[in-house]
Amino acid sequence: MDMDTYDSVIELAKRRGYLWNSFEIYGGTAGFYDYGPLGAMLKRRVENIWRDIFVINEGYYEIEAPTIGIEEIFVASGHVGGFSDPLTECQTCHESFRADHLVGDVASNPDTLSADELTVVIKDNTIKCPDCEGELGAVYEFNLMFGTSIGPGSKRIGYLRPETAQGMFVDFPRLLRFYREKLPFGVTQIGKAYRNEISPRQGVIRLREFTQAEAEIFVDPRDKSHPGFDSIKNYSVTLYSDPAQSSGKDSVEMGLGEAVEQGIIAHQFLAYALALTHQFLLRVGVSPERLRFRQHMKDEMAHYAVDCWDAEILSDRFGWVEIVGIADRTDYDLNAHSRVSKTDLSVYVEYAEPRIIERTKVKPDMGKIGPAFKGKAKSVVDALNSMDAKNLSGDAITVNIRGEEVTLSTDMFEVRQLTETIHGENIVPHVIEPSFGIDRIIYAVLEHAFREEDVEGEDEGRIVLGLKSEVAPVQAAVLPLLTRDELKGPAREIESALKHKGVMVAYDDSGTIGRRYRRNDEIGTPYSITVDYDTLEDGTVTIRDRDSMKQVRSPVDTIADTVHDLVHGTIRFEEAGTPIA
Ligand code: ATP
Ligand code: GLY
Repeated sequence: MDMDTYDSVIELAKRRGYLWNSFEIYGGTAGFYDYGPLGAMLKRRVENIWRDIFVINEGYYEIEAPTIGIEEIFVASGHVGGFSDPLTECQTCHESFRADHLVGDVASNPDTLSADELTVVIKDNTIKCPDCEGELGAVYEFNLMFGTSIGPGSKRIGYLRPETAQGMFVDFPRLLRFYREKLPFGVTQIGKAYRNEISPRQGVIRLREFTQAEAEIFVDPRDKSHPGFDSIKNYSVTLYSDPAQSSGKDSVEMGLGEAVEQGIIAHQFLAYALALTHQFLLRVGVSPERLRFRQHMKDEMAHYAVDCWDAEILSDRFGWVEIVGIADRTDYDLNAHSRVSKTDLSVYVEYAEPRIIERTKVKPDMGKIGPAFKGKAKSVVDALNSMDAKNLSGDAITVNIRGEEVTLSTDMFEVRQLTETIHGENIVPHVIEPSFGIDRIIYAVLEHAFREEDVEGEDEGRIVLGLKSEVAPVQAAVLPLLTRDELKGPAREIESALKHKGVMVAYDDSGTIGRRYRRNDEIGTPYSITVDYDTLEDGTVTIRDRDSMKQVRSPVDTIADTVHDLVHGTIRFEEAGTPIA
């Protein structure tokens, strides 16, 4: 196969210390990647921008729950019962495959087919093993959770969490108190999630251990309007709705206010999450031209969701890839945990105005029921109280007490109309969830930043990782023109001044200056500072801009502030010094 952008990006990422196959000296295992020194730094910076947006600006505090969960959690959430992908195994080489991925060319919506239907499609279309052309076996559902046992003697079953979300749902009562019992509120978590993916052949796109950044926003189901919606209603994004997909139309660029008004996006909370997601992805360096929001088709939605939009990026090899899922999970999870844990997970919400309601109540007459039913009297009263009083006409009533029909005559109870003032009610919040796959985002950032270009007047072109300076791992390189002590001394002083300002700096004095520029272009260093003999004469250094390759001369005594401001975007490159012709 010819090298495509994916190969070039991964080759660069491996060579320069961004991404490495895990356990390499033992031959590696699919679905696991290490972040090398530059990759880990890039990842932290991306996560911190996410924190800046969701935690600091939105006020959704971050928590940290265990990555192992007890069985009950995942029974309640539905993962034990239904978190699976369809698997088929080659009968010859015994390699496993995602059956839905193998039938993509012959079935229009493979995600929606059952294991039996997939078995039939494979047979009818004589689909063979992609590796050895062998026969494929019957398809079955393979649960993607990694199981484990907790404590010695395998007494208690546990699972590595397949999403960070559940840790936040099970903390709901504590969170509710922390947020003083007021909706809406949000909580976030950044951490590892684990899925035993069947056949991960897409590098960092499909990992068995990956990082999610998730926000769970608990809202009042009766009112999904967002208090900050006005600030984003003119914000435009590319939307590829379910109806557009079903009718073969294209995606459209649209303001989020209009999208909600037209009912394309179900409500303001979802639309607001789309805006934040878009802002975040652009800030970390995803290209807006290669980004869209695709709505899930009705039959594609996760078991817990009523509406879901994926942020998808366009990649050279894989086409459109989901990097963020934004779902309205309704009250599915809280109800499920409430049922299984037998804990009330509702919130009392006060009405803006008290409500007066008419109620029909049935009042038992114990003086008559007691002597008439003796030992059964309490059960009779309980049965009466549990009846829907508005269906009672005042005639005799028959109730069933442990299989025995018992009739109450009309003098044993009274049906009354009452007027009550109600100040509020208990509701189970709905959850809006933007779920970010940090590793896929890192890959998108690398691919969208990667370029190979010719350089005017030079035979050799250059490779550039055009990372935003806010995420670039190394933010500045300090390069003495020659390895002479009189240049190395001032260069080391600049390095130290930049470190004091919190700028990640690389000092590099090996090889020609051209080579050192190329090396820094490749790792994405946005600025290089060169110390030369003019520095000793006039106290200025050269700052080179990675993208334009333009250079300015800037005073040494203010260089740390200047570079700090460049990196944080508070000054433009043209303001950093005097242009060199
Ligand atoms: P896919 O259909 O591609 O398997 P998914 O629909 O299962 O993805 P979600 O369950 O919505 O993904 O997970 C939320 C986010 O977590 C995704 O948008 C993605 O960025 C990330 N993610 C999910 N599975 C993986 C994985 N195996 N490797 C890396 N990231 C993942
Ligand atoms: N929390 C959404 C997901 O991981 O599927």
